[in-house]
Amino acid sequence: MLSLYLHIPFCASKCSYCDFNAYAGMSDLIAPYARALAKEVRMVGEAGGPEGAGERGEVHTLFFGGGTPSLTPLDSMADIFSAIRESFALTDDCEVTLEANPGTVDLAYLEGLHALGVNRLSFGVQSAQANELSLFNRIHTFDEACETVRLARQAGFDRQSYGVNLDLIYGIPGQTPERWKDTLARALALEPEHLSLYSLSLEFGTAMRAWVQRGLLPAPDNNVAADMYEWADAELARAGFEQYEISNWARTKDEGGRMKDEIQCTILPPSSFRLPAFACRHNLQYWRNEPYLGFGAGAHGCISGFRYSNVLSPAAYIQRIESGEARPFPLSPALAEATPVDVKTAMDETMMLGFRLTREGIPADAFRARYGVGFDEVYARELRDLTGRQLIEVGADRARLRPGARLVANRVFEKFV
Ligand SMILES: C[S@@+](CC[C@H](N)C(=O)[O-])C[C@H]1O[C@@H](n2cnc3c(N)ncnc32)[C@H](O)[C@@H]1O
Repeated sequence: MLSLYLHIPFCASKCSYCDFNAYAGMSDLIAPYARALAKEVRMVGEAGGPEGAGERGEVHTLFFGGGTPSLTPLDSMADIFSAIRESFALTDDCEVTLEANPGTVDLAYLEGLHALGVNRLSFGVQSAQANELSLFNRIHTFDEACETVRLARQAGFDRQSYGVNLDLIYGIPGQTPERWKDTLARALALEPEHLSLYSLSLEFGTAMRAWVQRGLLPAPDNNVAADMYEWADAELARAGFEQYEISNWARTKDEGGRMKDEIQCTILPPSSFRLPAFACRHNLQYWRNEPYLGFGAGAHGCISGFRYSNVLSPAAYIQRIESGEARPFPLSPALAEATPVDVKTAMDETMMLGFRLTREGIPADAFRARYGVGFDEVYARELRDLTGRQLIEVGADRARLRPGARLVANRVFEKFV
């Protein structure tokens, strides 16, 4: 099955840690950008052949990421949804996530999103501490984040849908373990179905990196961040969450009360294997190295033996889509780069991405079904070395990270680059 990622690159202000393709001060481009996005979806859908991309498989996840997608007005969102539904076949239980920034939405907006088919919200909460939110240049307080989650519940984003995710950041300069514990406790009190916990990284070109380099802020301490991670992992297990990826935890069926089967591998169900019911299906698509199309400025896609990305600038993207012609599926007029993925590269990527999945890992039967060869044959030397260094475990059914290696997973990934 197929997944679609739609990038909305606009923000009310730029966060001090953020190096994503996102821009403040361009709100006048939001409406024309949304029109271009709808047009790109139609062009790519049509280029998929007489039956559109439907013949390439149904779409089972959509993800609106940013930037701040929740800055897009409802009428523009409605246009984009019409284009998606006209151009692609969506499964009945399609997971539809939208990233939302607390402080940018009200009840009517959230109800409108729900009516359009959005069934999962991901809120960039980041911290419950006023000083940390201000350091991040966030536009909301933690109380506003709580109120936004309450409104989301009222609008129908509950356990009958795919629920609510909260993003939190730890390892912040000057952050004490007590503050991190307080942030996590207050986030848990909101009873999210899903949590993403990210260790602060100082990305090139960000204000945060410049402040640290100029000595205005202490550098994040990796050892403190590692302790925060271990503590959070234990605390989340106590709260009924199951970790399924290095930075991601979800409620299980028992705790979450969601009456549907847990997610299985879409290539071949690994025997007797389950993921927590509220694991994000869209992100699983990436980590399982399965196909997705990317729409919008700077969006990436991976399908039909290519990885590709669109032009970064929103203005250039609009111009390309307005004046361009669709190329053969899946390439859009906004394409900036396309790289063929040969079979060995695809296998490397399947290993590298699969090791992110802390429980599922790389299922041996799925790998063999896809590539006609076992990972133990292709990567015998690498697997022996990593097993010897206590970084991974390789069983008859799967290879995966050892729990103690989650903080040094790069040592595993680098073997498959
Ligand atoms: C693309 S951003 C989503 C933006 C979202 N609309 C928001 O309100 O913040 C995804 C998440 O990645 C995390 N993130 C981004 N940059 C980061 C960095 N330098 N270090 C750690 N986490 C980061 C943040 O938690 C952020 O919410």
